[in-house]
Amino acid sequence: MKSPSSTPSLATLVIGRVLSRIYRRQDGSHKARIPEIDAQSEALEEALSFFPEGSENQFQEWEADFERVKNSLSSEVDFHATADISLTWLQYFLTRALKPDLIVETGVWIGGSSFTILNALESNERGKLISIDFPPFKKKHRVGIGRLVPESLYSRWELHLGPSKALLPKVAQKGSVDIFIHDSDHTYSNMTAEFERAWELVKPGGYIISDDSSMNNSVLDFVDRKKCQYKFLKRKKGGTIAIIVR
Ligand SMILES: C[S@@+](CC[C@H](N)C(=O)[O-])C[C@H]1O[C@@H](n2cnc3c(N)ncnc32)[C@H](O)[C@@H]1O
Repeated sequence: MKSPSSTPSLATLVIGRVLSRIYRRQDGSHKARIPEIDAQSEALEEALSFFPEGSENQFQEWEADFERVKNSLSSEVDFHATADISLTWLQYFLTRALKPDLIVETGVWIGGSSFTILNALESNERGKLISIDFPPFKKKHRVGIGRLVPESLYSRWELHLGPSKALLPKVAQKGSVDIFIHDSDHTYSNMTAEFERAWELVKPGGYIISDDSSMNNSVLDFVDRKKCQYKFLKRKKGGTIAIIVR
């Protein structure tokens, strides 16, 4: 089976790389609100309040499912070292609880999160994942984007290679996405741009999730502008995940 990926033009790749370097240099001026985020963050279990009513009855079944999914990789790879366990936990349970038709994620790396989400969609017997990654230029940093995902899950997956900012408006229609997940370049500029684009794509009542949300002010500035509901959840290994309701 053909790999489920598409690649943008060389010009898009080069310009995207140059811009992301410039944005990284500017990031220092967007960190003043980090203590506010730390003060607001709650235990991961608080995420349960975002799951649809009635899903608490199914948690045991999903917990067992999630263990099975993690263990199916354990002989090849240390799951905890490749994907953040708090983020994948949330992704698995939200996908099972919401039964989404479309999830979009940015930041794939070897594919721990894609693998998790695709397994949850497979158990739901519905839905599709669109993933975006902008692989590093340097050969020594190339990891094989999405290589953990087996061909048996390709039918629910589209993988696009290039900068998230340029690709997001092209990969999905406005108002068609149930869950958007940011886990790519965690600079203020890139996160803000992704959230703004995701706001257009995600259905009202859908979710925008951001890993590493306490690295700068981007989530707080964004929710202030949109005046929407949100929560910061503590990750097990430090840092926070933000859940924003569209
Ligand atoms: C933290 S890893 C993603 C981990 C993955 N979500 C998981 O949980 O297994 C970050 C990824 O973001 C990608 N990335 C960095 N900048 C990007 C950008 N501007 N657009 C899309 N992807 C980007 C990197 O190539 C890298 O693979």
